[in-house]
Amino acid sequence: MKTKVIIIGGKGAAIVVAEQIYDAQIKGADVELLGFAFDDESLGKEINGFPILCKTYEAKDGYSRFSDIKFIYQLYRPDVMAGRIDLLNSYRIPADKFYTFIHPSSFVARSASIGFGCSILANAVINPNVKIGNHCSIHSNSLIGHDTKMGDYNFIAAHSAIGSNNEFGNANFVGLNSTFNNYITVGNHCFIGMASNVVKSINDGEKVYGNPAKEFNKQIKPL
Ligand SMILES: CC(C)(COP(=O)(O)OP(=O)(O)OC[C@H]1O[C@@H](n2cnc3c(N)ncnc32)[C@H](O)[C@@H]1OP(=O)(O)O)[C@@H](O)C(=O)NCCC(=O)NCCS
Repeated sequence: MKTKVIIIGGKGAAIVVAEQIYDAQIKGADVELLGFAFDDESLGKEINGFPILCKTYEAKDGYSRFSDIKFIYQLYRPDVMAGRIDLLNSYRIPADKFYTFIHPSSFVARSASIGFGCSILANAVINPNVKIGNHCSIHSNSLIGHDTKMGDYNFIAAHSAIGSNNEFGNANFVGLNSTFNNYITVGNHCFIGMASNVVKSINDGEKVYGNPAKEFNKQIKPL
């Protein structure tokens, strides 16, 4: 039975994930994109040709009774991460209603484990003994090195290279094309700017960028 997916969200990463699910669908994967749950009425009835089915808060009551319909939450923004996680939790959607999408061009080692509600996008590589929590997004061409562990709600932007034996907490944002040495620890709610070269561990709530990556205190704007 094909899993039918509704993306909760409708901008940025939500559209990227939608298009990649559609790509997997037309290549014969057992998945079908139904459309979006999104609140912005100015967009009309569809986004990039996929229907807007309902508001985000209507997704659970409208669709979770169908056993073949599952959700992927894609409303994350690094500047308001905690609020967006609270919003997801306020919908009280059961864990088994979330789908983990793995694009067929990615590599996931047999010994790796991935939680629910995740998106592993085209050409990502998840190496042996990696453990990824729930609601994480690993974008295209990113590498997660062997024995690296991460909690929930981590967003790894495209072309990032995370070394081996790293440990990430929850709700971290890793910007495009960032590189991490081996044995790095990242706390919770950290922000790593694009093209960072991370050679030292990062504490809870720290924002870093640069080569080598160093702390900065600028307010993050909406991406
Ligand atoms: C860190 C970040 C949020 C800063 O954005 P910003 O507030 O618009 O910053 P600005 O471009 O105004 O730059 C401010 C200063 O920081 C420096 N800077 C900004 N981002 C930097 C980065 N990633 N690495 C090194 N230096 C950086 C700029 O050179 C500038 O320095 P200056 O004051 O000496 O001239 C942004 O650069 C970034 O990394 N965004 C993530 C993008 C991304 O990964 N998107 C993926 C989405 S899927």
